[in-house]
Formats: sequence, structure tokens, C-alpha cells
Amino acid sequence: MTAPAEGARSRRAGSTRRQFLLGGAVAGVGAVAAVGADLALNRPKTGPTPVSAPMNGDLTVPFFGVHQAGIDTAAQAHGVFLGLDLHGDVDRDGLTRLMRVLTDDAARLTQGRPALADSEPELALAPARLTITFGLGPGFVTCAGAGGPAWLAPLPGFGVDQLRPEFSDGDLLVQIAGDDPLTVAHATRMLLKDARRFASIRWTQHGFRRAHGTERPGTTMRNLFGQVDGTTNPQPGTEDFARVVWTEEGWLAGGTGMVLRRIRMDLDKWDRLDRSGRDASVGRTLANGAPLTGTEEFDEPDFAAKTAIGFPVIPQFAHIRRARGDGDERIFRRAYNYDERPAGTEVSESGLLFVSFQADIDRQFVPMQRRLDELDLLNEWTVPIGSAVFAIPPGCSEGGFIGETLLA
Ligand code: HEM
Repeated sequence: MTAPAEGARSRRAGSTRRQFLLGGAVAGVGAVAAVGADLALNRPKTGPTPVSAPMNGDLTVPFFGVHQAGIDTAAQAHGVFLGLDLHGDVDRDGLTRLMRVLTDDAARLTQGRPALADSEPELALAPARLTITFGLGPGFVTCAGAGGPAWLAPLPGFGVDQLRPEFSDGDLLVQIAGDDPLTVAHATRMLLKDARRFASIRWTQHGFRRAHGTERPGTTMRNLFGQVDGTTNPQPGTEDFARVVWTEEGWLAGGTGMVLRRIRMDLDKWDRLDRSGRDASVGRTLANGAPLTGTEEFDEPDFAAKTAIGFPVIPQFAHIRRARGDGDERIFRRAYNYDERPAGTEVSESGLLFVSFQADIDRQFVPMQRRLDELDLLNEWTVPIGSAVFAIPPGCSEGGFIGETLLA
């Protein structure tokens, strides 16, 4: 069942089995509801059955394909990111067994089917656009006895970093995203149960966007500073997106590189900044995300525009000016917010799970992050506290498994 603003991957759920499993109960409820409606509206009980809108829970995103899902998929409301460390005794055969079993779980769960030996099979029946995406860290590739890509290593250190090991690095990434938190929690547990013979959890990071249905599909997300975040981004499905995101390199062909940075946002300090200061820090308005030189969100910023007294309208150190540079480096951002239990006297422990996909991290992400490290007004309120890099292998077809181009 295709969601209105969905990318090419989504399609109508293969809900036959679900209907088979739930058919009796649904028919019963439907009958009661129909009787009630008929009485209230005093309508005859014959005539065409009204067509109802698809349920959020029925929507699926195909699992098999050239690329893994969860990258060019319109971002779902909930995202869980798992960083796993391989056990010391896992070898190349073990990696193959691990990726085969995780692929099988993901192929089933994302289509609304229970995993093999699913302990709570009913929880699998509402996929709600669940996607499960795997990423390989440097340790995984070394364990496989393979090499490359050259950028698959921890990022160089940046002056702004205050990285903590509990949010950084890892051998295997699993990104589990969906529009229903119960479905996401169930999938997370199923995958971890099958992974635990081979790997242990290094970190878990939970992220969220607006709940499903709160805003029109396609609305750019807002982060916890209240900013419209994600406006200037390559559009999935375009050649531009393909150039920025997908690589053609060796075993990673059809895959991409992922940077996941946990960036703390100091909301208490942000509270003390007035509205014009907030707008200036990014170079866009909080109201609708329009550049300071325009009126609508997607107006092109005019970086040359000057105020009456000769200052740039978009400040020299505004985040968008520094991030864009001369426009040579581009990335695809797909971030989530996080908001944890606050500690001490502060009332928030919040920030961004900054996620970017790009074909070559050294060529695209690193120079941009260097510029922001050097000068970016936003640095006043943000601190990176976690950082990890993964190679996201291509997708696979039925019978295959994620990581096969490296392992098979
Ligand atoms: C908590 C940290 C961050 C916050 C709150 C933040 C927020 C924003 C906002 C509000 C925009 C303007 C709207 C848009 O186009 O999305 C933006 C643009 C952008 N940000 Fe960030 N950002 C953060 C970190 C980063 C990092 C670490 C990078 C990359 C190293 C980055 C790269 C970009 C890029 C490439 C743009 C688009 C610039 C353009 O217009 O060409 N941001 N960010």
C-alpha cells in the first residue's frame, strides 16, 4: 500500500496473509461498526461498501532491490540505530551465517511477516513502512579478510569533537526505521536475538521525527532547535541523488557510505538567543526555513546579497554558507532527533542523530565537516559526542543476503 509521498520503493502491502490471519476478527469488528453506522445514518443495509483509506500499519517498503531500503526511503517517524561489536571468535564463515540470518529476518519483518521462530509473531503483522538497513564497520571488513574503501575508518579528529566511546564506532550497524514504535521495537529485539551469538551491543541510539500523519507527507522535518532541517538535499530517485549517494567501487557498488554523528544541542543556551540571532546562525528563518534573502523555504539563497550598510544578509559564518562552501561537496542528510532523560540542573539532553549518506566520505563529508569545524555559528550551541562510519553494502535479491558481494 503506497504512502502518498513515498519513494519508488514503497508499494501496497502484500497483506493477503495478514488478512488471512486477521480476517475473522476484522470482519467481526467491521460488521459491528457497519451496523452502528447504518443505524445512525438511517441508510439501507445494501449498496456499495465504502472504500476506506489504507491503514498506516499495512504500508510496506520492498526489501529486495539494487540498493538497500532505508536510504532513499522517505524518512519514517522512528529510527533505532544499533552499533554492534563482533565477538573475537567470529570468522568469515561466521560473518556469512550472521548476515544470512539477519537478512532473512529483515526480509520477513519488513513485509509484515514474523521472523523465523518469532516469539511474538503478532507484533510483526503491521510493518508500517519498516526498513532494516545494514552497515559494515572497519572491523567487519577486516574480519572478512577484505580491504577498502579507503574512507572506511574513524573520521579524522575535529576541534569541536567531544566524542564518547559509548556513542562511537562499531563493527556492524543496523538501522531500523518505521512509522510505528512497537513494530520497530519488535524488529529490534528479533534482530538482536539472532545477532547475539556473533556480536554484542556497543550502543543503541533512538531517534524520532514527527509522528506519522501529523504533517503532510514530504514536509521537511524540524529539529529540537525548531529549525526546518533538510531543505537543501538531493532528491531521491533523481540522477543527482544517484551521483551524490551511490558508489560504483568494488564490492560496495550499489551501496554508499554512512556517517552517523550524535550531536548534542544545548537547548538551555539556545533559549537565551533571540529570534534574529537564531535565524542568522543558520542563514534561514525559523518561521518557514526560507533563506534570509527569500520568502519561501525552497527559494535559492543569495549569498552575495548585502544589507543597506554593506554586511552580507546571510552572515559569513552562517551554517548554510559554511556547509555549502563553493558547492563542490554534497551529501544526503537523513537525520533524527533524540531527547533523553535530562541530568543535573538542565531540563534537556537533546540533539541530532546526524545521518548522512555519500558515495565517498573522504571527498564529500570530511571537507565539509572541516569547514564547519573551523567556523560555524551553530558550533556555539552544538557539540558532536558520538561518531561512526559504515559502508552500506548494496541490496540483494531473493535468496541472496546483504554483504554477499563482500563475503560470497
Ligand atoms: C546539530 C547539528 C546541526 C544542526 C542543528 C543543523 C541544522 C541545519 C539547518 C537548520 C540547515 C538549513 C536547512 C537545510 O538545508 O537543511 C542545515 C543545512 C545544512 N547542513 Fe546542517 N546542521 C547540523 C549539523 C551539520 C553537519 C555536521 C553537517 C555536515 C558536516 C551539516 C551539513 C549541512 C548542509 C550540507 C546543509 C545544506 C547547506 C546548503 O544550503 O547548501 N549540518 N543544517
